[in-house]
Amino acid sequence: MNLRLGVNVDHVATLRQARGGHEPEPATAALLAQGAGAHGITVHLRADRRHIQERDLRILKEVLAVPLNVECAATQEAMEAVIPVGPSWVTLVPESREELTTSGGLDAIFLQGPLKQTVRELRAAGIRVSLFVDPVLDQVKMAAKLDVDAIELNTGTYSDLPMDADAGPELTRLREAARLASRLGLRVLAGHGLTPRNVGPVAAIPEIEELNIGHSLIGRAVLVGLERAIAELLAAMAEGRA
Ligand code: PXP
Repeated sequence: MNLRLGVNVDHVATLRQARGGHEPEPATAALLAQGAGAHGITVHLRADRRHIQERDLRILKEVLAVPLNVECAATQEAMEAVIPVGPSWVTLVPESREELTTSGGLDAIFLQGPLKQTVRELRAAGIRVSLFVDPVLDQVKMAAKLDVDAIELNTGTYSDLPMDADAGPELTRLREAARLASRLGLRVLAGHGLTPRNVGPVAAIPEIEELNIGHSLIGRAVLVGLERAIAELLAAMAEGRA
């Protein structure tokens, strides 16, 4: 199975919002990413609208040829903003206003009641649903029970390890969660904090179909350009897969 790259362009919008104007345009970045080999585009519509705005969703949906994946909280407010746009995928994530970025997976066990309703609503609108969860077997089992299409495994703990730490135990958790999810019929994605330096061992997990990567990629693109940053990342992913 080839490993796909979903490019998260939130931080192009972060730069735009810093001045409250029109530049840089996330849709332009998304089209450049698509041209450079991205297999999908991801954006996070946060409740505080700190980066991506509703107009971005509409424009991205209109111009992209690759699938659009919108991350959002499982709230009625988010559903009212996202469902009418009709993205290919919605990834449900936990969200708190204080956090700098998504800071952990959803507790699908604790939230099973409200999640069930949200998943039903999205699927009825023809939108595929993914749950962002930590690599915990009980969370994976609950995701399967909630009848979602996919899970995205949170690689944040792995990515935050110091360079000289033993990544073995965290990689084992990711491998076992990916294997169980696949056995339960779920598609498996992963992401958070991945970079060309640390992506290899995650790319090597055979059940993982797609990686969602944003911050390191946009940070590198500011220095060397988006096309080169994507080429470097795709090369590191291919090397890890091989
Ligand atoms: N996956 C999810 C669910 C996320 O919330 C994020 C961050 O927006 C990412 C992947 C990408 O993480 P990063 O920006 O660290 O590459």
